[in-house]
Amino acid sequence: MSDNQLNVAVICGSLRKGSYNAALARTLPSLAPPGMAVKPAPAWDKMPVYNHDLHEGGVFPAEVIAWGDAVRAADGVIIVSPEYNWSIPGGLKNAIDWVSRFKEVPFKEKPVALQSCAGGALGGARMQYHLRQSLTSIDAFIFGKPEIFVSFSAKKFDEKTLELTDQPTIEIVRQQLASFEKFIRRMNGRK
Ligand SMILES: Cc1cc2nc3c(=O)[nH]c(=O)nc-3n(C[C@H](O)[C@H](O)[C@H](O)COP(=O)(O)O)c2cc1C
Repeated sequence: MSDNQLNVAVICGSLRKGSYNAALARTLPSLAPPGMAVKPAPAWDKMPVYNHDLHEGGVFPAEVIAWGDAVRAADGVIIVSPEYNWSIPGGLKNAIDWVSRFKEVPFKEKPVALQSCAGGALGGARMQYHLRQSLTSIDAFIFGKPEIFVSFSAKKFDEKTLELTDQPTIEIVRQQLASFEKFIRRMNGRK
């Protein structure tokens, strides 16, 4: 591992045990280029529903602090999420809303790449465009192309092991990670 290796945090938008998005997230370390270490971000599922009164006086819930710190410390973030009712899953949006209230917003100028798996033909595209909009509002640097939309996801993973088996998907994910490494280095001035 070189000193110059990037540290990238992965956030998954699904809590489901058999989640295709979680399965894709688990595949990322093996598809990442040597200059990028990919690790899961802390869980967001114990965060309370956002309420300003819960951080009156500047004290945030511990889960929110841990999640925000992990995003802040990472060189880049990859969000792998399903689409719920054409948009961002509520729990994930809640987590983003929470950390957007910190004085030092963790997503500010943070390179972020997006991926989604969905049962249907659009592969979660509508959710990704909502994430782009929301994260842009808190000054994240959103990576462009290639985009990763894993449509008809049940056909792309092994039914029993949930291993990603679809070669074109593996290849495009590899390409996105390689391009994302270059994007992060351009954005944060690291060679
Ligand atoms: C509440 C809910 C809403 C959903 N809405 C959409 C949707 O708008 N578009 C879509 O492509 N799939 C939708 N789905 C189906 C998901 O794409 C599918 O269940 C997917 O496998 C969920 O991701 P996961 O396997 O990572 O849990 C929805 C599923 C749930 C549970």
